[in-house]
Amino acid sequence: MNRISQRVQSAGFSTTMQIAALAFQLQSEGIKIINLNVGEPDFNTPENVKNAAHVAIDKNFTKYTPNAGLADLKDAIIKRLKTDYDLSYTRDEIIISPGAKNSMYNACMAVINPGDEVIIPTPYWVSYPAMVKLAAGVPVIVPTFANDGFRLTPAQLEQAITPRTRALILNNPSNPAGTFYTRKDLIELLNVALAANLIIIADEVYEKLVYDGLKFIPAAAISAKAKANTVHISGVSKTYAMTGWRIGYAAASNDLIAGMNVVQSHNTSGATSISQVASIEALNGPQDYVKAMLAEFQKRRDYLLKRLREIPGITCHPASGAFYLFPDFSVYFNMEFEGERIMNSADMVYYLLKHAHVATVPGSGFGAENYIRLAYATSLENIETALNQIEAALKKLSPIRQLEIK
Ligand SMILES: Cc1ncc(COP(=O)(O)O)c(C=O)c1O
Repeated sequence: MNRISQRVQSAGFSTTMQIAALAFQLQSEGIKIINLNVGEPDFNTPENVKNAAHVAIDKNFTKYTPNAGLADLKDAIIKRLKTDYDLSYTRDEIIISPGAKNSMYNACMAVINPGDEVIIPTPYWVSYPAMVKLAAGVPVIVPTFANDGFRLTPAQLEQAITPRTRALILNNPSNPAGTFYTRKDLIELLNVALAANLIIIADEVYEKLVYDGLKFIPAAAISAKAKANTVHISGVSKTYAMTGWRIGYAAASNDLIAGMNVVQSHNTSGATSISQVASIEALNGPQDYVKAMLAEFQKRRDYLLKRLREIPGITCHPASGAFYLFPDFSVYFNMEFEGERIMNSADMVYYLLKHAHVATVPGSGFGAENYIRLAYATSLENIETALNQIEAALKKLSPIRQLEIK
């Protein structure tokens, strides 16, 4: 008898976590693996942020905080949203959670009724469909294409909406494809979403990691109506290299935040006190750290894109945000090396892990089978070695020979 609930069975374990576990196992066997699978900056948390945490500990600021977060951290978030995007929120329109992932989960639990449909464009971050299912909703997966920059088009959105549609999950810039929506894209898309009274759950955790001189606009900044119907989700994990501190946050109208507050009150309660103090410093302190990190990421993106496009048969959309590239590897499917067959993206990822000693993530986990995801959150030197090893491993492949039928 399976004692696990159907909801949890339907969600399954995160693909990225599975690959990480296998890479870790090979590493523990003494094999040097280059990790292009991880979703976190390789930079250190800024010194001023770490110092703020030391002070918090020394002052014994180590107890529970209010469920929705410290007022000073809410103020720091409010100030950033105002300064950066001219968005005005009040304290009751902000909630701080243990990671942006938790903010996303709280938002799903707060707004989805059983059977509600939630539109999720592919390639999606692995957790979105699972979160919707855990909230007893129905994920409606809408494929997007490299030719459209992996953007959901207004026509596609229109077609996917039914009377049961409750929300749209919009990840901008996106993981895994680095999809980027301009102001114009957002206006056109939100026109359709708002006409159907959808709630927009806008995962904008990569808001500060945007390249090629593009300007990020949050969905909530499009209009007053957009703001009233959008849950803006972000955090300090990616922007300040603070993934392990576990601080994310949401900004939305107070009824939505109140709902998320209820969910959080029965789940994690308030986020870590020390991490919240560190996050105040991250948001209020000097921002040049972010600029320097961005410049380094841009160099790596450019290099990785160039190297991938030099591999015969590989095409790659020049992702303008986050720190991932999502090349199409399908030209190497139906190939083999010493009897090891590559039929799909998962086979490819295992092959590259074994023969190139490079960890990547299969597109299947993101709902896009022909692709694999490579993160450039590692040094240029590592990226160069990884690409040399990937190229060498791909050269060993040859088409699967069909059995001759006599
Ligand atoms: C699209 C997206 N949203 C949310 C998160 C989670 O962020 P956090 O580490 O703050 O929970 C990630 C992390 O990989 C992500 O890629």
